[in-house]
Order: sequence, then structure tokens, then C-alpha cells
Amino acid sequence: MSVMIKSAPEAAPEAATDDRPTVLETRGLTKAFGGLVAVNNASLLFRERQTHAIIGPNGAGKSTFVHLLTGHLSPSGGQVLFMGADITHQPAHKVARLGIGRSYQKTNVFPSFTCFENCRLAAQSRLSTSMRFLRPAKAYRETNDLADWALDLCGLKLRRDRIAASMSYGEQRQLEIGMVLATGPKVLVLDEPLAGMGKEESEMMVGLLKELGTRFPLILIEHDMDAVFSLAEVLTVMVNGTVIESGPVEAIRASQAVQDAYLGDGAEAY
Ligand SMILES: Nc1ncnc2c1ncn2[C@@H]1O[C@H](COP(=O)(O)OP(=O)(O)O)[C@@H](O)[C@H]1O
Ligand SMILES: [Mg+2]
Repeated sequence: MSVMIKSAPEAAPEAATDDRPTVLETRGLTKAFGGLVAVNNASLLFRERQTHAIIGPNGAGKSTFVHLLTGHLSPSGGQVLFMGADITHQPAHKVARLGIGRSYQKTNVFPSFTCFENCRLAAQSRLSTSMRFLRPAKAYRETNDLADWALDLCGLKLRRDRIAASMSYGEQRQLEIGMVLATGPKVLVLDEPLAGMGKEESEMMVGLLKELGTRFPLILIEHDMDAVFSLAEVLTVMVNGTVIESGPVEAIRASQAVQDAYLGDGAEAY
């Protein structure tokens, strides 16, 4: 790839119509793997209660961008700001505790545990530092309450005591979102939440994401364009590591870049 790495981090252009507070921001975010620039000078804003989808063909740099946001990779250049604080080189476990909740493309559920137990484990991972200052009984109650709150929110309240392995694939993906919720996130970063789902399961998940989008900022990597257009307010298109379009979904939808990426050679990627 022959793209140049620009050195000076630039702030993303402000959308004049949107005054919701910024939750997460990248400035000139760049990641090179040797000579390959997987993410090139990406400056993006993610706002309160906004669903922001990132699309692009395979190899565009979407997953790398997510890894940079969540501390699973350290950038070669640029910055990540969370609620205004610079978290650029923080490790993943710290970023998670700050409130950037992330789901993985592969499911992360413990199959032999119940839904409740899975969510309680996730809640414990978040509370483990603060729990040292709580009495054991109170800490126990807090993790249980968080787990039940998360199960309710992800739509699995009635499956509370079901063994995860006995549920459908779609329900297990739902549980995975419940586990992210149980960590008490301030923003949700979801990597292909519809991957591998049939029509009914996808519809259920889109409904859940719509509901979550009213409560949390969502950053969504998704190949299902119907889902993207029904969920996202803001759309970013990446190609070869570079953000080529970013803005309100209606403005971007008709752009040549989206047409090319969606209908052109990259179509099989969606
Ligand atoms: N750990 C890595 N080491 C080397 N190259 C990588 C690594 N991770 C990703 N890449 C490369 O970076 C580019 C972007 O990959 P990725 O972020 O996975 O794209 P996407 O998620 O959009 O499909 C690809 O060319 C990929 O091969
Ligand atoms: Mg990917």
C-alpha cells in the first residue's frame, strides 16, 4: 500500500448540526504493521447516544481501528480520547474498566455456565478493583444486581438460569452483549454482531441494538447493509486504511464511495 502517514494529528471536522457531547474521539490515529499502513490518520468523533457504523471492504482496517480504540493494539501515531482524557497507550484491561465495552466477532460465552453466571463473571471483571473497598456481602450484591440488570437489558431475563450451551446461536450472541453490558460500559463497540445469524436472529439483534442505541453510544462494525442503514445515524467508510467518507448516514449513503464499496469489486465483502 502506498499511502503516506501524515504526522500531525488533526481533529475531526465538527458536525455543526450535532451538539451531543463527544464520548470517544480519535485524532490522526495511525497503525502500521511494518510497511503496511492498516489505519492511516483516522480522525473521528463518536457522540452520546449516537450509533456510528464503520463499513468498508475486507482489509480496510476496521478491526485494527477497533483494536486501537480498545487498547488491544497500540497505535504508531495519533491519539485516542475518552471523555476528553488521553487513553492512547492504555492497555486493554484498563480501557475496559474505564467503560469502553467491546464484543468480539467470535463468541466469548462460557458454554457450561448459565446466562446469569456468565453475566456475573463479566460484572466481577469490572468490579474487581473497587470491590476491595467493599464489604464482601455488598460486593456480592452489586455483581448480582449488575448481572440481572444486564440480562434484562439484553432481553434474556427469562433465560436467566439456562445453560448457555443449550441456547440457540442467536441467543448466545445476545448473551455476549449482556456480558458486555454487565461490565457497566459507557460506550459499546460491537464487531459484527450479526455475523453468522439467520434472518429471524438478525431481526431480533437489530431490535436489541436499536434499543441499546437509545441508551449508549454504539460503534458498530457490520457487513449487513440493511442493518447498517436501519441502525446508524453516522456512517464512516474506510478503504485501504483511510477514512474516505464520514457523516450523517443519509448524506453518505448516496456517495460514490459507498456505491463503489457496496456495489463494486468489494461487494462480496458485505
Ligand atoms: N497483526 C497484524 N499484523 C500484520 N498485518 C495485519 C495485522 N492485523 C491486520 N493486518 C493487516 O491490516 C490490514 C487491515 O486489516 P483489518 O483491520 O483486519 O481489516 P478489516 O477488519 O477492515 O477487514 C489488512 O491488510 C491486514 O492483513
Ligand atoms: Mg475485520
